Amino acid sequence: MARVLVAYYSRGGNTAKMAEFVAQGARLVKGAQVALKEVPEVDPKGLAAYDAIICGSPTYYGQMAAEVKALFDKSVAIHGRLEGKVGGAFTSSVNLAGGNETTILSILQAMLIHGMIVKGTSERDHYGPVALGAPDERAEGECLKLGRNVAELAVRLFG
Ligand SMILES: Cc1cc2nc3c(=O)[nH]c(=O)nc-3n(C[C@H](O)[C@H](O)[C@H](O)COP(=O)(O)O)c2cc1C
Repeated sequence: MARVLVAYYSRGGNTAKMAEFVAQGARLVKGAQVALKEVPEVDPKGLAAYDAIICGSPTYYGQMAAEVKALFDKSVAIHGRLEGKVGGAFTSSVNLAGGNETTILSILQAMLIHGMIVKGTSERDHYGPVALGAPDERAEGECLKLGRNVAELAVRLFG
């Protein structure tokens, strides 16, 4: 069984809705055990118990929210223990070119520094799902796909 965590921060509910779709996509994968948690509930030391971590944040000034960055900063306590695990990221922003991709990359950058494996996609949202405000049908599909892709890879590697 591969353990997948979908961790998100959301003040207005948009990223939370995306997180539910990501978790739904991951739950479609046989052999994946999926947990959905808000970032303030996540124990940084507990991250090492997961085989895959998918992290969502609203776009704040083109980067992950401070609350999400704080989780990564605290994860230094387990630095080295996320090596080879699977990662993914998603975001909601208000503007089309409002720094949403740089927000996803800010999360993936932290994951890469942990030595995690990040899978892109050749179609649509290459770095990870983006929603403008609440997820529409297109963003919903991208979230389902991210959850499924990450969970499938985690099952192949760890299941
Ligand atoms: C402090 C702050 C900074 C923000 N910075 C940006 C930004 O750089 N670009 C953008 O498009 N939207 C920005 N937004 C808008 C949010 O990303 C957007 O409303 C998002 O949908 C909120 O997600 P949530 O409902 O999950 O909290 C910002 C909002 C706040 C509160």
